[in-house]
Amino acid sequence: MAIIYREDKKIFQLNTAQTTYLIGLSPEGYVGHIYYGRRLKKEGNNYLLRMKEAPCTPSVNQREKSSFLDRFPMEYPTGGVGDYRESCLDVRGESGSTGCEVFFKSYQITKGKPGLPGLPASFGEPEQVETLEIVCEDDILNLRAVLSYSVFEKYDVITRSVRIENIGEQHLKLEKVYSACLDMDNKDFEMLTLTGSWARERSIQRGRIRYGKQLVSSRRGESSHQEHPFLALVAPDTTQEQGEVYAMNFVYSGNFLAQAELAQFGNVRMVMGIHSEDFCWNLRPGEVFQAPEAVLIYSSEGLGKMTRCFHDFYREHLIRSPYKYGKRPVLINNWEATYFDFNSEKLLDIAREAKKAGIEMLVMDDGWFGKRNFDDNSLGDWFVNEEKITSGLADLVEKVNEIGLAFGIWFEPEMISPDSELYRKHPEWAIQIQGRTPTQCRAQYVLDLSRPEVVDYAYQCVADILHSAPIAYVKWDMNRQLCDIGSSYLNKEAQGELLHRYMLGVYEMQERLVQEFPDLLLENCSGGGARFDPGMLYYSPQIWCSDDVDALERLRIQEGTALIYPLATMGAHVGDCPNHVVGRNTPFETRGHVALAGTFGYELDITKIAQEERDQIPGQVELYHKYHALMQEGDYYRIASWSMEKPYDCWEVAAKDGKEALVTFVQVLAQPNMQSRKIYLHGLAEEADYMLEGTEEIYRGEELMKCGFLIPSEKGDMKSCLYHFICCGGES
Ligand code: GLA
Repeated sequence: MAIIYREDKKIFQLNTAQTTYLIGLSPEGYVGHIYYGRRLKKEGNNYLLRMKEAPCTPSVNQREKSSFLDRFPMEYPTGGVGDYRESCLDVRGESGSTGCEVFFKSYQITKGKPGLPGLPASFGEPEQVETLEIVCEDDILNLRAVLSYSVFEKYDVITRSVRIENIGEQHLKLEKVYSACLDMDNKDFEMLTLTGSWARERSIQRGRIRYGKQLVSSRRGESSHQEHPFLALVAPDTTQEQGEVYAMNFVYSGNFLAQAELAQFGNVRMVMGIHSEDFCWNLRPGEVFQAPEAVLIYSSEGLGKMTRCFHDFYREHLIRSPYKYGKRPVLINNWEATYFDFNSEKLLDIAREAKKAGIEMLVMDDGWFGKRNFDDNSLGDWFVNEEKITSGLADLVEKVNEIGLAFGIWFEPEMISPDSELYRKHPEWAIQIQGRTPTQCRAQYVLDLSRPEVVDYAYQCVADILHSAPIAYVKWDMNRQLCDIGSSYLNKEAQGELLHRYMLGVYEMQERLVQEFPDLLLENCSGGGARFDPGMLYYSPQIWCSDDVDALERLRIQEGTALIYPLATMGAHVGDCPNHVVGRNTPFETRGHVALAGTFGYELDITKIAQEERDQIPGQVELYHKYHALMQEGDYYRIASWSMEKPYDCWEVAAKDGKEALVTFVQVLAQPNMQSRKIYLHGLAEEADYMLEGTEEIYRGEELMKCGFLIPSEKGDMKSCLYHFICCGGES
C-alpha cells in the first residue's frame, strides 16, 4: 500500500519506491508537513512538527497561536489568521473580511485517481496509483478544502491538487487558491528555474535563495516564454548524478506562480498555483472550485534522476495520444520556406521535392485562410483563401496525398483579427475592457473563451476544415499574450474569473478535438514555445519548442526543455541557413543531429537549398527511422552542457534494457591544441560488451561508465557526431 494512516499517531505516510512523504495532524486539527525525502523503511513519527516550541514573546500561553503558526509547517496554509508567510488560500466572505482557517475533518484513501473536471491531469489505473483526500473545513465560512494527493509508487511521483467547496449559505470569493505547498527547513537550497523570451525559451537558471520571496510567474494568460511553471529547490552540491532535488511542475497553461520563501527561522515555503493577481472566483452556496494539479518529485540522486522520473511519468501517465510511442511522420513545414507567400503550386513543388528525399508529411502553415497575406488580418475567418489554394483544400490535400505525403495544417483558433469578418460581425467576442482601446499584439485580439458560443464557434471552424479533407496533423498556435482582461459576457463580479475560464475554454476545445479526431497528430505551439507545459501535453504528444531553429540556440533551449519533458515531445526541425532568427551558419549535418533529439522535421524551402544539403536529407530521415524508438522510450542523460560550462554539448539516450545507447556530441567551439574529450556514459550494463557502430571497437559497459570514452578532437565549430553503442556480448 502506498498510503497508510496511523490513527494513534495521526500521521499519513505516502510511500513511493524511493521516497516518503509524511503528513501529521496537530491536536486542534491543523494539517502539518513532517517530511518529504528518501524512503523510510518503517513508519514515521510526528516530532518534527515543532508543536512544542516556546512562543517568541514571553507568555504564559504555551500555544500562543501566532507564534505557533510562525513555526508550524503547514500542508496548506490559509491567509489572514496569523501565519504571515505566503498563504495558499485567501477567501473573502460576505462580511468583506478575508480570514480563513481550515481544520482536519476526515480523510479517504482510494485506489486509482479521479479526473479533474475540465482540467488536464495525470491519470492511472487502480493498481498504479492511490489517492488520499484530506478533508478540512472552516466552520465560520462553511468552506471545505479537500487536499488531494495521488501517489504513483513506481515513478516516485506525488501529484497534488485542491478542491474548494462552499457548503454554507454565504457567497464566498476565492481570491487565491494555490495547488501545492511544501514547508521545509532550508538546506542552503538553490532555486532552479527556467526562464527566457521569444526564441530563447527555457534557459536553466540557478542561484542561492535569500531571505524573503523569490518567484517565477506568468500574468500573460499563458505559461509563457519568459518564465516556466516549474520550480526546483536543490542542495548546493547537487549535480546531474548526485544531491537532493525538490521539484514541482504545474499541469496548467495559464497564469501561474511558483515561489520559494525563506522566512525568519530559516524555513522555506515552496508554493505553486494559479497566480492570485487577476484572479477572483465567486463560489456561491453549493459550488465547487477545482484547482489544477502540481506534480512533485523528490530525488536524492541529482537532477538526472528527477529528469528521468518526469520523462517516464509524463509518457506513462499524462500524454494520451496514440502517437506517444508511435513513429511521427517526418514533416516539412512551409513557414520559414515561404512565410505568407505561397499558393497550391508552390506547396506541391515542395511536396514533390520532399517526397524524393523521404519526407512523409507536408504542413501548410499560417496564411491559407481569409485574405491573409500578412499577419495583420483574417484570424477568425477560417475559410480557405481560394486565390492561393486555387482548387480548394480537398483538392490540394488529395494531390499532396497522391505525391505520397500526408497533409497537416496550421490554425490559431483562439484569436481574432480586428480586420476580419468575424470581428466586424462580433466585436464583443474579443477580450477587452469596456471603454478602453484594447492593446494589439501582432495586430490581433484574443477571443473571449469564457463565452460558450465562442468556444463552439472556434472549435467548429477547426472541426469543419478537418472534416473537409483527410488531414493528419494540426499545429494549434497561439500567438499573443493576454491583456485588457475584460469580458462583455461575464458580469462585473465575475471579471476575475476570465483568465481561468479562458483556459477552461482552451482545454474544452482541445478535448473535443482529440475526442472527435482520435487519430489526429496534434502539435501545440505558442509563438514558438510559450505554452510548452504539462497542461498542453495532456492533449498533444508534441509541442513546438521555439521559433529559433538555429542549431546552437537549440542546444540550450532543448537542454532546458528536456530537463522536464521527454525528448519526443519537443518539436524540433532542421532550418535553413543563415538562420532566420540569429543569422548564423551551422553545418547541415549538425542541424540534423540536434533536431534528432526532438520530433524531427524540416523548416526550409527544399526546392531552394543547396544540392549538397538536399542530398543529406534521405540519410537524416533514415537516422530518424533508425533511432526514433530509442529516443521515444529510452532514458535520457545529460553528459555535458555547452550552456553551463563547456565548449561542447553532449547527451545520451540509453535503452531501458541497456542493450544500446546513442550519444550525441556537438563541438560548439573548436579550441587550438586540444586533446580528445572524455565523457562518461550511463545506463549501460556493467558486465556487457558494447560495439561502437561503424568500427570494430569493443568496450565494456563498466569502463564506458566509470573510466569514460574519448571523443577525438576535430577542427571546426558546431561539428557534431553520433556514437551508437550496441550490446554485443557479456551479460546485459
Ligand atoms: C508562430 C509559430 C510559427 C509559425 C507562425 C505563423 O510564431 O511559432 O512556427 O507558425 O506563428 O504565424
